[in-house]
Amino acid sequence: MPSHCHNSMASHAIPLHVCFLFFFFSHLSSTLGASENYIIQMDVSAMPKAFAAHHNWYMSTLASALETSKISTTGTTTTTIKPSPIIYSYTHALNGFSASLSPSELEALKSSSGYVSAIRDLPIKPDTTYSTSFLGLNSNSGVWPLSYYGEDVIIGVVDSGIWPESKSFNDNGMSKIPLRWKGECAGGRQFNSSLCNKKLIGARFFSKGLVANDPDARATITNSARDRLGHGTHTSSTAAGNYVDDASYFGYSPGTARGVAPRARVASYKAIWEEGAYTSDIIAAIDQAIIDGVDVLSLSLGLDGVPLYEDPIAIATFAAIERGIFVSTSAGNAGPFLWTVHNGVPWVLTVGASNMDRDFVGVVTLGNGVSVNGRTLYPLNSSFNQTPMVFMGACDRLNELKKIRNKIVVCEETKNATLHVQIDNVKQAKVAACVFVTNTADLGFYLQTPMPTMFLNSTNGEIIKNYIKIDSNPKANLKFHNTSLGSKQAPVASAFSSRGPSSSCPHILKPDLMAPGDFILAAWSPTSPATTVGNQKLYSNFTVLSGTSMSCPHATGVAALLKKVHPEWSPAAIRSAMMTTSDNIDNMNSPIKDIGRPNTVATPLAMGAGQINPNKAMDPGLIYDAKLQDYVNLLCALNYTKQQIQTITKSGSNNCSSPFSDLNYPSFIAFFNKNDTNPDAIITQEFHRTLTNVGEEQSTYIASLTPIKEIRASVTPNKLVFTKKNENQSFKLRLEGPRWLKQDEVFGYLSWVHTAGKYIVRSPIVASRLSL
Ligand SMILES: *[C@@H]1O[C@H](CO)[C@@H](O)[C@H](O)[C@H]1NC(C)=O
Ligand SMILES: *[C@@H]1O[C@H](CO)[C@@H](O)[C@H](O)[C@H]1NC(C)=O
Ligand SMILES: *[C@@H]1O[C@H](CO)[C@@H](O)[C@H](O)[C@H]1NC(C)=O
Ligand SMILES: *[C@@H]1O[C@H](CO)[C@@H](O)[C@H](O)[C@H]1NC(C)=O
Ligand SMILES: *[C@@H]1O[C@H](CO)[C@@H](O)[C@H](O)[C@H]1NC(C)=O
Ligand SMILES: *[C@@H]1O[C@H](CO)[C@@H](O)[C@H](O)[C@H]1NC(C)=O
Ligand SMILES: *[C@@H]1O[C@H](CO)[C@@H](O)[C@H](O)[C@H]1NC(C)=O
Ligand SMILES: *[C@@H]1O[C@H](CO)[C@@H](O)[C@H](O)[C@H]1NC(C)=O
Ligand SMILES: *[C@@H]1O[C@H](CO)[C@@H](O)[C@H](O)[C@H]1NC(C)=O
Repeated sequence: MPSHCHNSMASHAIPLHVCFLFFFFSHLSSTLGASENYIIQMDVSAMPKAFAAHHNWYMSTLASALETSKISTTGTTTTTIKPSPIIYSYTHALNGFSASLSPSELEALKSSSGYVSAIRDLPIKPDTTYSTSFLGLNSNSGVWPLSYYGEDVIIGVVDSGIWPESKSFNDNGMSKIPLRWKGECAGGRQFNSSLCNKKLIGARFFSKGLVANDPDARATITNSARDRLGHGTHTSSTAAGNYVDDASYFGYSPGTARGVAPRARVASYKAIWEEGAYTSDIIAAIDQAIIDGVDVLSLSLGLDGVPLYEDPIAIATFAAIERGIFVSTSAGNAGPFLWTVHNGVPWVLTVGASNMDRDFVGVVTLGNGVSVNGRTLYPLNSSFNQTPMVFMGACDRLNELKKIRNKIVVCEETKNATLHVQIDNVKQAKVAACVFVTNTADLGFYLQTPMPTMFLNSTNGEIIKNYIKIDSNPKANLKFHNTSLGSKQAPVASAFSSRGPSSSCPHILKPDLMAPGDFILAAWSPTSPATTVGNQKLYSNFTVLSGTSMSCPHATGVAALLKKVHPEWSPAAIRSAMMTTSDNIDNMNSPIKDIGRPNTVATPLAMGAGQINPNKAMDPGLIYDAKLQDYVNLLCALNYTKQQIQTITKSGSNNCSSPFSDLNYPSFIAFFNKNDTNPDAIITQEFHRTLTNVGEEQSTYIASLTPIKEIRASVTPNKLVFTKKNENQSFKLRLEGPRWLKQDEVFGYLSWVHTAGKYIVRSPIVASRLSL
């Protein structure tokens, strides 16, 4: 993180605050230590009545803190006049402001009346034609027609902005903008405010934090909501893109593109820039989205390794949940390692990524007429007809490769020479085309290798190798651009998808569920290169991207559909419906696998409750609901200090009379991690849960548990009888196991099975001996 000293007047003349500058003309900048940017929480109940607005009070508090700090550092001051260091005043996402402060100024502020906490402003990174039908969405039945495709639900996307001219944001078929919408289409550089329409109803941008951290950025940024990166255009169109015919990625995956909620509205909040992204801007974006009146927030970004009370996403989204806004976030791309999930926030949805059953394929036709398929995303229509072909084994000798430029080179992955090394060699050698023989299932970004490349599995590889061995003059044709559907086992948990447990709150099993996130086709900024061939950059209105950044907006779209069908449901109820109806069985009717751990079944630490199933989520039967006070009770049980809890809840009077770590959550995680004198002694852990009936009035459910290795699980009562809608029934899940498990993680499922056969309400259970 760049450190910096704020003595340049120019970089801080933020027009909004010009009228308050007089407060600071007396402030002389301290030379004791460089300034850093901080996000400061204040207790608004401590504000003297004399102040008309919170902002004025923040300004005054800051002014006196700066004055105090100046006095206490006598003899070291210079005469530079420092303008207002306030970057943002926040009103909803948190009570407080962000500002640039030296260490002594921060110390002085800490003793001000009303001060609650300060966190450093940190840099943050952002982590289809087909994914909708893969999820079972269709026009004839289910949640699409019943939700009117998410009509009128407003989705706020905090990301890198939007490409408003993209056909995915056309407003064909959209009704009038609802009167409750308070947002606006802010004009700016290369972005006329008339570019919004009935689909894209809001566009705003937040760059003050970026500029405060990196003053040079002021000269280069496109200061408007225009998306120069493409990421925000991709996520927004995945969640709520309108119908676009004939969309494809250079001919791959052709068809009609549409988002998960094609009739929902999009409001774009740009806080990710080509120059970087900072949490102060992200908070400002969430703050404004709350004020504008979004219904669902989509955050394909996150911060690693911070406790909840220092996590700007956790803090700002608590305010969103308080207002009934559903928040969908990405789990991160740091898998397949455990303890890597971010956004492990108990009040948001944390979405992992899965692969679909789609392959991008090409065909290799050998000189003897035999054809085999390979995987490829090579964008150009280059044709290789009767081109000489040579087998080079592991392509680890660059000099030899350089001698055979005009041939199709066949390379084979070995333990010694990784795919990465071989691809690098072939790239440098500039061979005509390349065929790799590999059994790597998860090719990830290799598929977009900048030369004509095809990836063959070992069976097809043997066919080619035998042909080359036998034929005195081996040749082949290569044909690219085919997409095959239903061709493989799916979904599978993606290798890159971050895994639980969550270090910020291990008591809550995260991620919550998974959604498609591998090679997702969606709209793209046409000025941002979609791929590169050789040194040539190629551009496209649509592109394929992979990441939990892509799976998050799928869940966002599903939440919008559910909000339309069930406007009365709380964010926790919507999350519960998505989780308990998700699938843990794949298209081959076997347990969903984990591509990050070949030949193993995906555990809930990888996929949460399972693969999202929008049609089933509409009608879950029972839900695990939670209120705001339940989250407060959890924070109290985590033994956070009063200030830490207040940082999250904003309220200075949190009721901690009944601390309770057992949140009414639709999943379970217990730790059996006492590796001490008596590791085999049996201990018991209990969970108390309440189910609310949102299905048929008269309904009976029976508990069903799958076996869990080393653990004895039981449920009491094991039968729940409901007689009316919204009735609550409680139960207790008891897990008995050794103080120290023999395996890192064991898991199973608790299902409440409707006796009339309409519903199965399934929750994952994880027992783990892992420690942070
Ligand atoms: C890309 O989209 C623009 C509108 O934003 C359209 O004019 C152009 O024809 C599209 N290009 C292709 C190749 O479809
Ligand atoms: C913005 O668009 C409107 C309507 O198309 C046009 O009249 C106006 O000149 C445009 N403004 C700019 C700055 O381009
Ligand atoms: C792989 O590398 C090891 C150590 O460098 C070497 O001993 C071995 O012969 C290599 N195997 C092959 C198949 O090249
Ligand atoms: C390789 O792919 C072919 C289809 O192209 C399939 O029949 C074969 O089983 C695959 N082999 C392996 C080892 O996956
Ligand atoms: C695409 O691949 C599928 C499956 O291998 C094959 O049946 C089809 O003929 C191919 N289409 C084209 C245009 O090559
Ligand atoms: C909080 O403190 C109590 C009392 O000291 C202790 O029993 C409990 O385990 C602590 N909880 C956590 C999550 O550390
Ligand atoms: C705190 O909550 C408890 C029940 O959980 C309630 O009895 C008590 O009145 C509450 N206290 C305040 C100050 O609201
Ligand atoms: C558990 O305890 C045993 C015996 O003290 C020790 O050998 C082992 O390394 C410990 N395992 C872990 C993961 O801490
Ligand atoms: C059931 O529990 C929910 C969530 O705790 C609560 O909001 C609701 O009021 C309860 N319903 C009844 C009928 O008690």
